[in-house]
Amino acid sequence: METVLSGIRSTGNLHLGNYFGALKNFIRMQHEHNCYFFIADYHSLTTHPTPADLHGNVKQVLAEYLASGIDPEIATIYIQSDLPEVAELYLLLNMNAYIGELERTTTFKDKIRNQPDNVNAGLLTYPVLMAADIIIHNASKVPVGKDQEQNLEMAKKFARRFNHMYGVEYFTEPAAYNFGENLVKIPGLDGTGKMGKSEGNGIYLCDPDKEIRKKVMRAVTDTGPTEPNSPISEPVRNLFALMEVVSDHDAIAKFKEDYANCTIRYGDLKKHLAEDICKFVAPIRERIEDIKNNDVYLGRVAKMGAEKARESASKTIREVREIIGFKAF
Ligand code: TRP
Repeated sequence: METVLSGIRSTGNLHLGNYFGALKNFIRMQHEHNCYFFIADYHSLTTHPTPADLHGNVKQVLAEYLASGIDPEIATIYIQSDLPEVAELYLLLNMNAYIGELERTTTFKDKIRNQPDNVNAGLLTYPVLMAADIIIHNASKVPVGKDQEQNLEMAKKFARRFNHMYGVEYFTEPAAYNFGENLVKIPGLDGTGKMGKSEGNGIYLCDPDKEIRKKVMRAVTDTGPTEPNSPISEPVRNLFALMEVVSDHDAIAKFKEDYANCTIRYGDLKKHLAEDICKFVAPIRERIEDIKNNDVYLGRVAKMGAEKARESASKTIREVREIIGFKAF
């Protein structure tokens, strides 16, 4: 059994790309592995120093995870700032993290380009905090997207460096978990690339029907096939890819046939796709709302998660302090 850990920033609502990509696999995996799931609210302060609604954002993301099927009785779901041990490990790891390597990190370079007026030390040491998140539970597998691969490499490096510096074999070097062929890539609605928050092309699990319809109807297509069996352009292929995850086979087959014999009307396809996405999202959205209205339940989940997570985190901190040489008088 592996220890698997996954984190999401509290400013990131879940979209269909998250759901059909990593999350669906994670929901399955929670039954097979020792899974930790956490909401990175400390990390969100690197880009949102005075968040309008820190608690509200955390609550939203927590409700979204629960509504999607993460079971708090099985997986350990917690909020980063509920674990003071993470902050302590971050401090200790910072002593062996070098300015040069941190400055060279792509995510750092990207972020200071995006927010030149707020080049804070938290942004610089973002990968150190991320390493602390991971190795505090000695997680061996971390599902990350392409944009986080370098941060994961840094986590490996910090784990290795700790072991080397103190002459121990203490931390496991975490490895990326990419789900192999189980990872479904969900494209965006803007014709190219995948669905992502920063791309602004996502359909969110909390989107109302009206919003979903609007987004789908506006999706990029092309001028339509002009001869039988012409190849399908990327924007249209993307719409079919979305259908693959929400629509039934007959509907997909029908639109494919219409495409092949040049009778397809993209408007009809979009209408069909929009309704199927609504059908899929609506029950999840309702569960999100129900959960958000249930503070007692949320409180219980957060407390239970924090207790379970702190069990492994406090053990790690105890041992790390001992390895480094802190001693009580
Ligand atoms: N940096 C991740 C992101 O932006 C979020 C994150 C923080 C994370 N700590 C982590 C992901 C630890 C995996 C493991 O998506």
